[in-house]
Amino acid sequence: MTAKKKPKVFITRKLPDQVETRMRELFEAELNIDDRPLSQPELVSAVQRADVLVPTVTDRIDAALIEQAGPQLKLIASFSNGVDNIDVDAAAAKGITVTNTPNVLTEDTADMTMALILAVPRRLTEGATVLTDRRHEWAGWSPTWMLGRRISGKRIGIVGMGRIGTAVAKRAKAFGLSIHYHNRKRVSAETEEALEATYWDSLDQMLARVDIVSVNCPSTPATYHLLSARRLQLMQPTSYIVNTARGGIVDETALIKCLREGRIAGAGLDVFENEPAINPKFFKLATEGRVVLLPHMGSATLESRIDMGEKVIINIRTFFDGHRPPDRVLP
Ligand code: DGY
Repeated sequence: MTAKKKPKVFITRKLPDQVETRMRELFEAELNIDDRPLSQPELVSAVQRADVLVPTVTDRIDAALIEQAGPQLKLIASFSNGVDNIDVDAAAAKGITVTNTPNVLTEDTADMTMALILAVPRRLTEGATVLTDRRHEWAGWSPTWMLGRRISGKRIGIVGMGRIGTAVAKRAKAFGLSIHYHNRKRVSAETEEALEATYWDSLDQMLARVDIVSVNCPSTPATYHLLSARRLQLMQPTSYIVNTARGGIVDETALIKCLREGRIAGAGLDVFENEPAINPKFFKLATEGRVVLLPHMGSATLESRIDMGEKVIINIRTFFDGHRPPDRVLP
């Protein structure tokens, strides 16, 4: 980046202190100190004065907003891996480049996926709740109390074998699960061999044969409700589903129905269709031990968030140095 003029960078949410300090040093940074999600009018005002917008997954960067951007807005450098909240086509049509922060949150998101894969069948939150809130419900160990289902020896079906899906597969293999996956493209023969993974061209057929389904594909118009009512009903009644990708990939209403009717044994969800709103029926299912719910925490480690910030900075600097930013998202 040249020393001449610092770009005006508008950051929509509070970022880790280290990242904000670097942003202040390098750019004319406008920060959201109190971390309040911004309203659409506030975002409009931001895109009318900033050279760069740094949004997060909580901001809706749709065509209507992009349409109102001033000619100075050149870059949307998202502090996120997923860009389903950004209309990348509308940005491209206006000559605005979009970047994201891939790779750096892969391992943490895969860890959280594995945590849910363990938590649901092994009744982790149910057990933990017995010893919280001073409820004193524990009468002591019993041979038949709090029994879950074994993980090892079971089959996991990974929907979306990209970076995060592959990282989940590595962990699942270490826990003794056999790896099955569905993806638009087959992964390399070496990866398949290393993971002893079985590829399913047909998602329907895979769903009917696995014990745990892990949703790890990106959210796009093509994956909206990919796990539809019809597909969820293909799953075995003893099976579980875990979603750490995006809520909209699973038809939540259908999932709730399947869980209530015992067509699926349980679900671990870190993401929801209308975040931060959550269908209240999930809360009842949680108290019944049929779901474990997390508030979109997949990448929530200090390390991931600092690395994401560093990626945003590199993308901005490279762009203003006149080069193609490393994490450019193509329409
Ligand atoms: C992302 O970046 O897409 C995650 O969902 C939030 O960190």
